[in-house]
Amino acid sequence: MSAKTPTLRLDRLLTNLGYGSRREVQIMARHGRLKLDGEPLRVIDHRVPLSQDFAERLTFDGEPLDPLPGVVLMLHKPVGVTCSHKDLGPLVYSLLPDRWRRREPAISAIGRLDKDTSGLLMMTDDGAYLHKIISPKRHIPKRYRAMLDRPLRGDEAQVFSSGTLMLEGEEKPLLPAPLEIFSPQDVALTLTEGRYHQVRRMFAAVGNHVTVLHRESVGGLTLPADLEPGDFRVLGNEEKAAAMGG
Ligand code: URA
Repeated sequence: MSAKTPTLRLDRLLTNLGYGSRREVQIMARHGRLKLDGEPLRVIDHRVPLSQDFAERLTFDGEPLDPLPGVVLMLHKPVGVTCSHKDLGPLVYSLLPDRWRRREPAISAIGRLDKDTSGLLMMTDDGAYLHKIISPKRHIPKRYRAMLDRPLRGDEAQVFSSGTLMLEGEEKPLLPAPLEIFSPQDVALTLTEGRYHQVRRMFAAVGNHVTVLHRESVGGLTLPADLEPGDFRVLGNEEKAAAMGG
């Protein structure tokens, strides 16, 4: 263990990971449900290193311990679930295991996707990482695939890349946003800012309507084709760094 590795009482760690109250996790441990290197660990009031190496030696009910605090996930957000408590309908958090929803610090969505938008949604309990991804100063590119109600009229790529498009009710023009055209109603738009309903409002500003919207990537992190809608997975360090680049 390095001198800098933080430590935490093991019962506190399990409580923070959502396994139960301090008392409940102590009882669970006494029943032999927690193991270190395959051996029951019945007393858990001592401090342990908050390191991946240590966590990998622990199992609970025979399963690897949940990820330590500092976790970053990518979720394939399906259409119909919402990122905001203000909207009606199931929340994206309902797609995580019950226990993960009791974690402290809590796991939050990194930015938002509309209820009707699918695709890559990152989530984390790491406030510093979250702020780096959503910081307006970083201009992290986010790529959206959009299906349109009507064929393009022809000047959209030029309008979106001009840096002068002003959305209704706003005071600052949008940053240039490259448009890739696959067919007259199938496009990809890359944004480096995150205004409210930005893609839908941009197409509304050029007289069109987005019928299907899907976020394919954030920075250099692309939603993998084998991650089904509603599924998520924990990101490794390289993927976490990739999302910040791009
Ligand atoms: N732009 C939108 O209009 N909706 C989203 O969910 C994301 C970007």
